[in-house]
Amino acid sequence: MTRVLLLNGPNLGRLGVREPDVYGSASYADLVAAGSAWGSDLGFDVEVRQTDSEAELVGWLHEAVDSSSHVVLNPAAFTHYSYAVRDAAAQVTKAGLVLVEVHLSNPYAREEFRHTSVIGAVATGTIAGFGFDSYRLALGAIAGRLGQDQ
Ligand code: DQA
Repeated sequence: MTRVLLLNGPNLGRLGVREPDVYGSASYADLVAAGSAWGSDLGFDVEVRQTDSEAELVGWLHEAVDSSSHVVLNPAAFTHYSYAVRDAAAQVTKAGLVLVEVHLSNPYAREEFRHTSVIGAVATGTIAGFGFDSYRLALGAIAGRLGQDQ
């Protein structure tokens, strides 16, 4: 079965509590449930994880390479400055795996520091601004890349 790691960076464990006007009122637990359900609809084995630690996120990206897992990645604030996450993400796509960068909000409609992604150039593609639907669309994009029905 196609394995997908759906990885979330810092503060995304606070979904539902953190700035609901920006990130919505659904919780991280809701994201875990939705991610797994959308994955099974597509025949994917999806594992949803969240960490506030850059080192742990880098380790999970290494794991994606070693286990041939595709990745949906919301790097959260790491998006804007973490060359360590970028270098780890680059290893995923260089290995021929799909990595979709996702954001709940549209960073381009927000503060200027959010307009830069150091991850985008090494991702397969980016989906931003659709709330939880960004993740669903990302899983569909992986299915599309792999030649499956969307
Ligand atoms: C985010 C956007 C980032 O700028 C921010 O730091 C986040 C969440 C999003 O999903 O919209 O934590 O990645």
